[in-house]
Amino acid sequence: MRTWNRERGFSITPVLLSLVLVAMVVLTVIYFRDPAYHPPAPITEIGKLVDYQYDLTLYVTATVFILSQLGLAFAVFRFRDRGQRAHFTRGNNTMEVLWTSATIILFLGLGIMGRKAWADTRFTAPQTNAIQVEVTANQFVFNFRYPGPDGKFGRLDPKLISASTGNPVGVDPADPAGKDDIVVPTLTVPVDRQVELLIRSQDVIHNFFVRELRLQQDAVPGMQIPLHFTANTIGQYEIVCTQLCGLGHYRMRSFLNVVSEADYEKFLKDQAAAQ
Ligand code: CUA
Repeated sequence: MRTWNRERGFSITPVLLSLVLVAMVVLTVIYFRDPAYHPPAPITEIGKLVDYQYDLTLYVTATVFILSQLGLAFAVFRFRDRGQRAHFTRGNNTMEVLWTSATIILFLGLGIMGRKAWADTRFTAPQTNAIQVEVTANQFVFNFRYPGPDGKFGRLDPKLISASTGNPVGVDPADPAGKDDIVVPTLTVPVDRQVELLIRSQDVIHNFFVRELRLQQDAVPGMQIPLHFTANTIGQYEIVCTQLCGLGHYRMRSFLNVVSEADYEKFLKDQAAAQ
């Protein structure tokens, strides 16, 4: 009859823990590879850069994740309690320096490589013929203002903000530049033309996010934040607020319509006639 070595632990615990770790790694890889969790195709050149950077970061971190978790599973199994004496170790300075440096290089390297994808939409000047649209967020809607035929936005006065009387952004009627301004609840832009958004908020911090543009920018009270993009595919895309801005946050959304140049001109004409 077999007798248990009193100093020897059960192997079932480390074996199960190792298997759980391996299963977790396999499930994570399966879920990340599932197309259902992938974003729709980008509609900007910058979007491709963002995707490239995202994939690169994901592959690098996935490699580290898989190796470290499988290493952990191996260590849990290999060094399970078999009645052997445990050794105390003070660690290894060389290894500490090595993996700390590797982590720093990895994080800084990925950050530096990704700077172009991020900065191109923000730190480069927009083209001189870029279409300007002002985006105003408030609880819980977006409003988009076009400068009209004169190309100039009229003065805004917070005291004149009145959504119920059709002046949700507070355009001052005394300013002639504002007479032809167009204010609408959805964003319409022509395809293959650069658009510069001027993002504002009337109350709390909101966010302007369009997945297909791969652009996400907070709208901050007291600031007008510029952001530019060129959409290359006609279609309708969802604009969502991604900052928890209040009870109505869940329904704060709008649409981006990317249309042909002719449809854009028609949109401007129709809206000018309607306002
Ligand atoms: Cu606005 Cu969430």
